[in-house]
Amino acid sequence: MDHFHYCEGQYFAEGVSFARIASTVGTPCYVYSRAILEQRWRLFNDAFGDYPHRIHYAVKANGNLAILKLLCQMGSGFDIVSGGELERVLKAGGRPDDMVFSGVGKRESEITTALEAGIHCINVESAAELDRVNRIAGTLGAVADLALRINPDVDPHTHPYIATGLRENKFGIPIDEVPDLVRQAHDANHVNIIGLACHIGSQLTELSPFVAALDRVLELVFSLRQEGLQLKHLDIGGGLGIRYGDETPPEPDAYVKALLNTLSARQCNLPLFIEPGRAIVGNAGVLLTRVEYLKSAQSHQFAVVDAAMNDLLRPALYGAHHRVIEVSPADVEPTTYDVVGPICETADFLSRSQRLSISPGDLLVVQSVGAYGSAMSSNYNSRPRSAEVIVEGDKFHVVRRHETLSQLYQNESTLPD
Ligand code: LLP
Repeated sequence: MDHFHYCEGQYFAEGVSFARIASTVGTPCYVYSRAILEQRWRLFNDAFGDYPHRIHYAVKANGNLAILKLLCQMGSGFDIVSGGELERVLKAGGRPDDMVFSGVGKRESEITTALEAGIHCINVESAAELDRVNRIAGTLGAVADLALRINPDVDPHTHPYIATGLRENKFGIPIDEVPDLVRQAHDANHVNIIGLACHIGSQLTELSPFVAALDRVLELVFSLRQEGLQLKHLDIGGGLGIRYGDETPPEPDAYVKALLNTLSARQCNLPLFIEPGRAIVGNAGVLLTRVEYLKSAQSHQFAVVDAAMNDLLRPALYGAHHRVIEVSPADVEPTTYDVVGPICETADFLSRSQRLSISPGDLLVVQSVGAYGSAMSSNYNSRPRSAEVIVEGDKFHVVRRHETLSQLYQNESTLPD
């Protein structure tokens, strides 16, 4: 069943109409379906069957505490990339041993906090970082478990800004440098390599790059084994794409099966970690917004709405496409609109060329924004961040209130007189 659906001319999230959410909470507002979120996580988990695995949800996709808590309750682990994400997951009830710490620029304080908390492992991306972790673990009198994040030099066929596994990207350790890092770790007293990791990019719509990356990682597993290094897990990162328009990305089941087949073809039975973000939460969330004005300029028709690029940056940053639909189509001729926000930038568009039957005051829904929507929002143009709501059957819960205007400058001060 589609949990976002029309019923008698009104758009609903599960059993709650968007009109009801708008009149109670206001707009703009992110709305998530609990049922979709949980269903997506389970699709990944079930696909593994008995194969030993961990799903580490990528917190960066959407770190709302309520979402993290729901995922915790289902047994998810977490992929974090900052001290802030560590704090969020702990606050939501996550266990440190169910977290891996990724990222190319971990600060001393972040590494210290992660080690003190007892994180499962740190995915190290350079010789300098390995050295830093060893030194910090030494001062704590600990031995830090590490995975080496490999850069497999595989083209993920995605937008260049979200491709991470190509040789020229800043991420990961080039394969030919790995033996040196293994020796460095061997000579250090406070680190222990327990895994290999990689993450080649986001919004991948084909399986072959994942398989190619895993193959490269497996070649390395065997050559390192010959040098006496026994690993405890492999981590293939996140990246599975979702449908925004006419893409046809593989389902989680096909994705997991392709990974497991690759492992079995090489007779590898190491536990597999994955770090999906978008494929769990992306299609579980929409952005509810209201039409302020309809405006025409030359041949263009604009629907000026109350959400903007500060709420949803993806169209401006990546040229991303998000479909927009009416909450309750008006009895007027459909017209092709660019749906734009009030921000003073031409890049402030949410979606282009959308055919809509609307009048000023009507509600619209921007689809597929559960991942990297609210998470990438800002206060640009001194606009408060939007509220967030989770729908659960015929109930809904505000899981983030609208920011207030005074919160916008609460950390600022003027110079002394
Ligand atoms: N693991 C690592 C190490 C990552 O860097 C990422 C995403 C993920 C997992 C999760 O990837 P996912 O399954 O969500 O594709 N802001 C961009 C996406 C940036 C992704 C960054 N890394 C967007 O809106 O498309």
